[in-house]
Amino acid sequence: MKQDMIVILDLGSTENTVVARAIRDLGVYSEIHPHDITVSELGKLENVKGIILNGGENRVVDGKEIDINEELYSCGIPMISIDHPTSKCDKKYDALLDEATLKSFIFDECKAEANWNMKNFIEDQVEIIRKQVGDKKVLLALSGGVDSSVVAALLIKAIGKQLVCVHVNHGLMRKNESESVVEVFRNQLDANLIYVDATERFLGKLENVADPEQKRKIIGSEFIRVFEEEARKLEGIDFLGQGTIYPDIIESGTKTAKCVKSHHNVGGLPEDLQFELVEPLAQLFKDEVRACGVELGLPENMVYRQPFPGPGLGVRCLGAITRDRLEAVRESDAILREEFEKAGLNKKVWQYFTVVPDFKAVGVRDNARSMGYMVVIRAVNTIDAMTASIERIDYDILEKVADRITAEVPSVNRVCYELTKKPVATIEFE
Ligand code: XMP
Repeated sequence: MKQDMIVILDLGSTENTVVARAIRDLGVYSEIHPHDITVSELGKLENVKGIILNGGENRVVDGKEIDINEELYSCGIPMISIDHPTSKCDKKYDALLDEATLKSFIFDECKAEANWNMKNFIEDQVEIIRKQVGDKKVLLALSGGVDSSVVAALLIKAIGKQLVCVHVNHGLMRKNESESVVEVFRNQLDANLIYVDATERFLGKLENVADPEQKRKIIGSEFIRVFEEEARKLEGIDFLGQGTIYPDIIESGTKTAKCVKSHHNVGGLPEDLQFELVEPLAQLFKDEVRACGVELGLPENMVYRQPFPGPGLGVRCLGAITRDRLEAVRESDAILREEFEKAGLNKKVWQYFTVVPDFKAVGVRDNARSMGYMVVIRAVNTIDAMTASIERIDYDILEKVADRITAEVPSVNRVCYELTKKPVATIEFE
């Protein structure tokens, strides 16, 4: 292993990730582990140079004060404690570590080297993946999203054709999205890629289904069914690759923090399809995943793409999906993205897209009364998607987008801009 590591032991602080980020920002790798880790478990982690006990107000769990395993206090690895009045640790700090104290602990006391970078991370992971997988095969659902794309590129580097990627096109992808997955992974990275065009199957199942939750359920369960069918056709697969990243794990809860939401990327596979998981990005924050993708040579527009919901354009073609409205969503979304990129807004706005409601409005086209769809533009900023504010887009840009959409998408005769924050609205419409 190339990287030195500082281990943070989670004694209930809500600031664990802040400390981990601060250490990684100093160029030293850092992981958060549960407070009750044993000396032998710690011994299995390589290159641990220091330990930080991170307590806080939540140090009491179920009415009992928690502490680390007694034996750790004499394991010989430099240790400090933050906010931990009764700790047996010699070095105690009352508040969050300031940068100077943190630096002095990491570099002077622990003698850690600032060798955390993506090049070393990739080299280490390649070694770990090869050790775990051996000469077996790994299956991966490659949606084309940031996490699955980066994990695919990393696995290709480590095990080449032993990785089998399955890309299911549910017909609800954005314009050229599936084509770009095939181009990048099959043509440029020479991946073993199975491309399944399941458009007709999905649209058939979704016909006349107007209820948003019902639509989501159909898309989710059909996705798993298609993926499962492909998995059953393959032989000798022992592993399932997953683009699990660090926030997924944190949100699933720790021993001291409650579960925010249960995490499952490819949940719902039947029990008889049992795979061991390969999750090489499980310790990375989102921006580190992107940096890893760039280092692996993935195109910027794949690595820096905005979030896209699993059910895709299906939840932006409101109500019962029809092909003409789905096309209107897809084409208007492509125009919006193109104009936002030209104006540099793609780097500034967190998420932007179009939706098409299920009704027609009166308009005039070619000097005659005509009925057309309405496109709604949504552009929001947020930190964590729990709340969102509206981006104030320049009127000239909005007007250009509206002109282009009504000129290039003949079924549309109105374009509106959405002004509602989350809450009271959600980011998506369904
Ligand atoms: P809402 O609409 O709940 O969306 O305010 C918050 C963020 O989550 C995305 N989103 C999803 N992402 N699968 C996903 O992976 C989904 O089913 C899904 N639904 C919403 C949404 O795009 C926004 O960024």
